Amino acid sequence: YGLLGKKFKDTFGHVGGRILGPFLGGLVGLKKPNNHGVPYSLTEEFVSVYRMHSLLPDDLQLRDITAKPGLNKSPPLIRSIPMENLIGQEGEKAISKIGFKSLFVSMGHQACGALELWNYPLWMKDLIAQDPEGRDRPDHVDLMALEVYRDRERDIARYNEFRRALLLIPISKWEDLTDDKDATKTLKEVYGDDVEKLDLLVGLMAEKKIKGFAISETAFVVFLLMATR
Ligand code: HEM
Repeated sequence: YGLLGKKFKDTFGHVGGRILGPFLGGLVGLKKPNNHGVPYSLTEEFVSVYRMHSLLPDDLQLRDITAKPGLNKSPPLIRSIPMENLIGQEGEKAISKIGFKSLFVSMGHQACGALELWNYPLWMKDLIAQDPEGRDRPDHVDLMALEVYRDRERDIARYNEFRRALLLIPISKWEDLTDDKDATKTLKEVYGDDVEKLDLLVGLMAEKKIKGFAISETAFVVFLLMATR
């Protein structure tokens, strides 16, 4: 809602024009998007900070949407279905049987995973991809490893360089990134003392979160930049 707040905007609408508008009234309600002269596109940086597979659960908690919700306002649980049964060829059949409405209401009543280290879904370490004819490929995909590889092959800046480019303070030791002793020990085992080598995705998950935030400060700044466009 910007500096003027919700009450002002609800009463008087969006004010301030192209330059001051985003500051005074926020981004929602601008008459036209401001692309700063560059056609809208999603940047590689945006893709990289959106690598949020840790949000995915291990199981879907399927709920009976025909029954009355319980005390916690959730419809009663029918059963937990492992996520690996809901993806690929077999997953498509299973989801058609469950139906769109049950699936989406159930998902709406389930909390997502946290964007933290050691919370990557293990079922994503052995995914079966399909070829263009829809046949299962023989070589399975370890998505956890592939994501780090993708950022490297696309020349996405490592964590510290990425932060410098956003004018954010880089880390100079592992303790700047996180207070978690297990995490700093493991980061040291993998990267030694060279904090410049830290991969972006690992850094985003390890980073201390700002109070009240589910995503890292680094990702948040990229979201802000994209939202203004
Ligand atoms: C059942 C759920 C999901 C499955 C099976 C899945 C699987 C995949 C796979 C196989 C890739 C491509 C890997 C590659 O070749 O580079 C991918 C990419 C990606 N996924 Fe997911 N994903 C799921 C959900 C999500 C969610 C919930 C998010 C974010 C909130 C997400 C964000 C991304 C992003 C940002 C990429 C990179 C896209 C790109 O390179 O252009 N995915 N995912």
